[in-house]
Amino acid sequence: MLHMKGITKAFNGNTVLRDVEFDLEPGEIHALMGENGAGKSTMMKVLTGIHPKDEGAITWKGQEVAFKSPQEAEEAGIAVIHQELNILPYLSIAENLFLGKEETLGKTGILKTKKMETEAKQRLAELGLNIDPSAEAATLSVGQQQIVEIARALSSNAEVIIMDEPTAALTDREIEQLFKTVRALKDKGVAFIYISHRMEEIFAICDRITVLRDGQWVGVKRIAETNFDEIVQMMVGRALGDRFPERAATLGDTILEVSGLTRDPYFRDVSFEVKQGEIVALAGLMGAGRTEIVQSLFGYKKATAGKVKINGKSVKIRTPHDAIGHGLAYVTEDRKSEGLILDFSVEQNISLSNFPTLSSNGLMSAKKERALFDRMKERLGIRTSSPELPVKSLSGGNQQKVVLSKWLGTNPSILILDEPTRGVDVGAKKEIYSIMNELAEKGVAIVMISSELPEVLGMADRVLVMHEGKLTAQLDNKDLTQETIMNYATGGGTRV
Ligand SMILES: Nc1ncnc2c1ncn2[C@@H]1O[C@H](COP(=O)(O)OP(=O)(O)OP(=O)(O)O)[C@@H](O)[C@H]1O
Ligand SMILES: [Mg+2]
Repeated sequence: MLHMKGITKAFNGNTVLRDVEFDLEPGEIHALMGENGAGKSTMMKVLTGIHPKDEGAITWKGQEVAFKSPQEAEEAGIAVIHQELNILPYLSIAENLFLGKEETLGKTGILKTKKMETEAKQRLAELGLNIDPSAEAATLSVGQQQIVEIARALSSNAEVIIMDEPTAALTDREIEQLFKTVRALKDKGVAFIYISHRMEEIFAICDRITVLRDGQWVGVKRIAETNFDEIVQMMVGRALGDRFPERAATLGDTILEVSGLTRDPYFRDVSFEVKQGEIVALAGLMGAGRTEIVQSLFGYKKATAGKVKINGKSVKIRTPHDAIGHGLAYVTEDRKSEGLILDFSVEQNISLSNFPTLSSNGLMSAKKERALFDRMKERLGIRTSSPELPVKSLSGGNQQKVVLSKWLGTNPSILILDEPTRGVDVGAKKEIYSIMNELAEKGVAIVMISSELPEVLGMADRVLVMHEGKLTAQLDNKDLTQETIMNYATGGGTRV
């Protein structure tokens, strides 16, 4: 039903897609894979008229097309759910669902609110979401917002739905629900273009995989006729070896001691210690209170009770500024709203937490700033054609590397990482793991929050498990299994 052929696209002379092809059959779920910056999102933006193509042809149901806007693509039957969600938090759920297609009373402009709400309720229920559609969209979890976006796509009778990393922020339960929805729609003949870095998911739900590398088409495979290793090889251009690099852990003195830390109702009476050179993972389901704990540790949200010691001394951390002063760094989970200033350049974003070392007498040194950028670009393999590009024009995974760079520059002694590899490709994941190991070997204590259990098991020395605001287990990572962690994460007893 869809053919893209010979697609080429450059931004300011920098070619990001070169002679790429892609095709889609009715009712098919077709994955688009490739490293961060390979051109996946751009390819979809070319298809849906966000960016004009420089060369090539797009054929939709036998006719050559060139959509001028996503609205035009949607009217033709191609809807897109972007990597960054487009929910307006202060409008109601129903208003979000009907955005741009509101029903009004004649020409008066008065919204038929009740009618839209009734219809929204029914459409969301069909997708397994039973909620009050008059509530503000801000009250929804990210997963629920995703369902609202799908409902919106379906309300335009889409025959193709493009999903750009739909599961990056979803809980396991939400992913299951999403897959149920996707499969049911597939049975009705709806086709999907599915972009994700999660190999397990791709193999669970897709029919075919098209792989891009550096803006070029590498190949297309049927799921039944390929495997993880082959796809990784196609994406990266070489075999990657072990997913997790080896590390010889030598632990030093206890550097961080947390006792009785509480912030009702998010978490209660949390106590743990971390040693120099140790990697401790905080595991648990979404909403278990993990992010809230590290936010309090970092002085961003005030704890209501509890003590924190660093290097054996009691400390009061009231603001992130205090925290940085005590050698803490915090890579936040939500890069778009907390980690980056999107309109600032890549270089400026990296500088943000490094003013003291980059300036003298209150003046920034452009030379030092560029040197820091160069160091981080080299170290993390950040893909950008210039340090002066606004950070929002980088691919999702490369934005994540910028957030990480911003904090590595401060030489922290305690590094907190909240979902550090979300949206990051296999190769870059391994780079991030190597950096974590290197830092640990230098004595940095690392507290990592991760929802990906293979990553927890692959990286942590010790695993702290949270359930509903309580620490339910502290486990040495020896013969530890995903099942054991899940058991404590879902309320199956305690071992502290
Ligand atoms: N508006 C833009 N201006 C300049 N460069 C851009 C723009 N949009 C994308 N690029 C560049 O195009 C390349 C491809 O980016 P794209 O977002 O398509 O990657 P991706 O495959 O979706 O990666 P990820 O997995 O990280 O999301 C990147 O190098 C990116 O910096
Ligand atoms: Mg992308």
